[in-house]
Amino acid sequence: MAPPFQIIHLPIIDSTSTYLKSMTMAAEFTCITADEQTAGRGRQSNRWHSARGEGLCLSVLLRPPAAATGISLISLLAAVATAEALGDVGRERLTGIDIKWPNDVLIGERKIAGILVETVGYGVEERLRVIVGIGVNLHQTSFPAPLAETATSFKIETGSQIEVTAFRDRLLERLAHWYGRWVDGQMAAIVRRWSELSSYALGKEVMVTLDSGRLTGRTAGIDEDGSLLLLTESGQLRRILAGEVARLRVGEGQR
Ligand code: BTN
Repeated sequence: MAPPFQIIHLPIIDSTSTYLKSMTMAAEFTCITADEQTAGRGRQSNRWHSARGEGLCLSVLLRPPAAATGISLISLLAAVATAEALGDVGRERLTGIDIKWPNDVLIGERKIAGILVETVGYGVEERLRVIVGIGVNLHQTSFPAPLAETATSFKIETGSQIEVTAFRDRLLERLAHWYGRWVDGQMAAIVRRWSELSSYALGKEVMVTLDSGRLTGRTAGIDEDGSLLLLTESGQLRRILAGEVARLRVGEGQR
């Protein structure tokens, strides 16, 4: 049975994740949604564009068991949940859903959903809280430059509207399912499902931007902890724990 999400809907907020972070006593599975975010946050300190009524913005609070390990897999399981929910609700109208490591959900190499996983309070006195923020582009018919090159929406891809509440509920159900498997220690099942849904799991030529520089190579799978394995051009197998992945187009990376 799905866990009892407590959904709090707000018409406008700076960021659903920032708001949820301030609710220090909130119960696990508290979910904040908003019609509009004025300061939506993305990965790598990027802004997340969320104008009124254009997409789904939600943040969910998880409180993993004290002994839990493999927190970085939460990021991957959230992408699996989002991709599955889009696939279920979009059915044959929405094809070609992909995941770019670690958690961008793409269609035709353009981003339809982004995920920001943040951890709070890993101190002695405070139990770890994990805030999973998910933004899904639903109703946009176009994007301003430079997003036009890299973003897409359910409407652009299908020409049709999505029933937002049904989609939200499906997404929460999938998130609860995969989080439950994570709590049960079924890391391999999460990695397997992520790899089934992602063209980036194996054999993709990519460039990875790390804090320390750039690597190019071919993807060689996902480790049990969610790291990306990369076979570099010089033949080394590298484990990438954090970084920004970009697909290499033919000819790129050879200069
Ligand atoms: C990314 O950069 O791809 C992650 C984007 C995450 C955006 C969502 S929208 C709901 C939640 N609130 C935020 O401020 N960010 C996340």
